[in-house]
Amino acid sequence: MLVPAIKILKPARARGYAVPAFNINNLEFLKAVVEAATKLRSPIIVQTSEGAIEYAGMDYLIAMVKVAAKAPIPIALHVDHGKNLDTIKLAIKSGYTSVMFDGSALSYKENVSKTKQVVKWAHAKKISVEAEIGAIAGIEDFVSVEEKDAHLTNPKQAAEFAKQTGCDSLAIAIGTAHGAYKFKGQTHLDIERLKQIAKLVKLPIVLHGASGVAEDVVKLAEYHGAKIGKARGVLDEDIKKAIKYGVSKINIDTDLRLAFTAGVREAMDEMEEVIDPRKLLKPAYLLMRETAQNKILLFKSEGKA
Ligand code: G3H
Ligand code: 13P
Ligand code: ZN
Repeated sequence: MLVPAIKILKPARARGYAVPAFNINNLEFLKAVVEAATKLRSPIIVQTSEGAIEYAGMDYLIAMVKVAAKAPIPIALHVDHGKNLDTIKLAIKSGYTSVMFDGSALSYKENVSKTKQVVKWAHAKKISVEAEIGAIAGIEDFVSVEEKDAHLTNPKQAAEFAKQTGCDSLAIAIGTAHGAYKFKGQTHLDIERLKQIAKLVKLPIVLHGASGVAEDVVKLAEYHGAKIGKARGVLDEDIKKAIKYGVSKINIDTDLRLAFTAGVREAMDEMEEVIDPRKLLKPAYLLMRETAQNKILLFKSEGKA
């Protein structure tokens, strides 16, 4: 059943687990994550970036998710990193149950005012709003402590921002980055900063850029010709700590992309004469389903649907 995201995020914050938020682009991604969640009875958030909406079409995505939502688990359909207010408005009107307004590149004042506008539109239709404060970039992208402080989320500012905007959940920056190259050296998150944020912000906290970039999947893709190189993701132990200290929505895109790439490349390599797209895509879908199941177990959302 389709539900507003806050309905599944509030219990997660209260009970100490995280709801997986998977980025999808097409039918294979959607089926993989919904089947994994149904099998493990986990609530999930299916999210589409503006790029995914442009690629697949908003109407196609909504129609597919409405069918998927016949599954006996709560599912929220969410706009990820919405920057274009027209797209957000259309999503609210057309059937999404949650939207993110990403004003992280704007001034604090502009971020507050635009987030407030989105909250007004969304709450009028009982749709949830995720907002962002801080800039998501790898911890080693900062050369000085001052620079780090300027980019990572300031706990007091986060509390003020949440109060001023009335958002339902808050994305924060504690050192993760999007994509497969999150850390140049050792991987670590600023867990102390998260603890301080969680003391002041009682909303569900969202962790972006949380993919683990599993070595075996990277190796499989590379064995079949992909050039991925020195990829490095968030450690499982850091994910567990993040959940312990208040993170209740965890965004995963890159790990599904890697699983998809590994599966497709292996199929193309091993079935050179096959031209049936179903045979070529099935291994990718199965690897993505397994990836989603592993995330659900790691995030402790199994059995919470
Ligand atoms: O946070 C970004 C997501 O990984 C979506 O990426 O804009 O390429 O679809 P995308
Ligand atoms: P990853 O690139 O680590 O999967 O993060 C995805 C994300 O944050 C989507 O909003
Ligand atoms: Zn993100």
